Amino acid sequence: MSLSKEDYPISVLYNFELGDFSPKEKTIARRVSYLSKMFHDRTAAESLIKQGDPVVYETSYYGFKTSLSDMALGVTRIQPGKVGDEYFMTKGHFHEAKNQPEIYFCVKGEGYLLLETIDGEFQAEKWTEGTISHIPPMWAHRTINTGMGLMVFVASYHLSAGYSYEAVEKNGFKKLLVERNEKPELILNDKRKR
Ligand code: F6R
Ligand code: ZN
Repeated sequence: MSLSKEDYPISVLYNFELGDFSPKEKTIARRVSYLSKMFHDRTAAESLIKQGDPVVYETSYYGFKTSLSDMALGVTRIQPGKVGDEYFMTKGHFHEAKNQPEIYFCVKGEGYLLLETIDGEFQAEKWTEGTISHIPPMWAHRTINTGMGLMVFVASYHLSAGYSYEAVEKNGFKKLLVERNEKPELILNDKRKR
């Protein structure tokens, strides 16, 4: 087989101090305004937006596309913080393709991975530094930082998996992670109390 330029092995370097890697293709920052409808306390979200709209998380990507494959790397850094009593988190999504799993590896901090199917099966995985989670196909996934510092995780997936955000935008996840008595607690999402 004759190899094209993109078919050769490639490595990137992860920096444990910064929670970031290089080289990368792009970084996308998500602020409270991007997520405001995801948090249950809209008033707290609006007031944070007025106070400067802080970054909640940033994801850096590298797509290792070859002539035969499309493995991708994503590193997400979630800042510590809360909107009202709800911890900073990613928006969360399903993958468009119905046969696509994903691996998440928590490399810094602590928090939770929330998972949910379209039929309402729900699971929460508690994360500490070193937890590696397998996300099976057709489970929506959202990560949450409950610690005092940065939480960083590495994701590995296929570019052809695609993204689907509509269901999460409309209904959120079955449970929210809020602070109660200085501890994280899962409570039922109001949107689902029917
Ligand atoms: C890729 C993946 C992660 C997330 C990232 C941001 O399939 O799951 O790289 O894309 O953590 O989260 P979302 O996409 O939900 O804003
Ligand atoms: Zn994903």
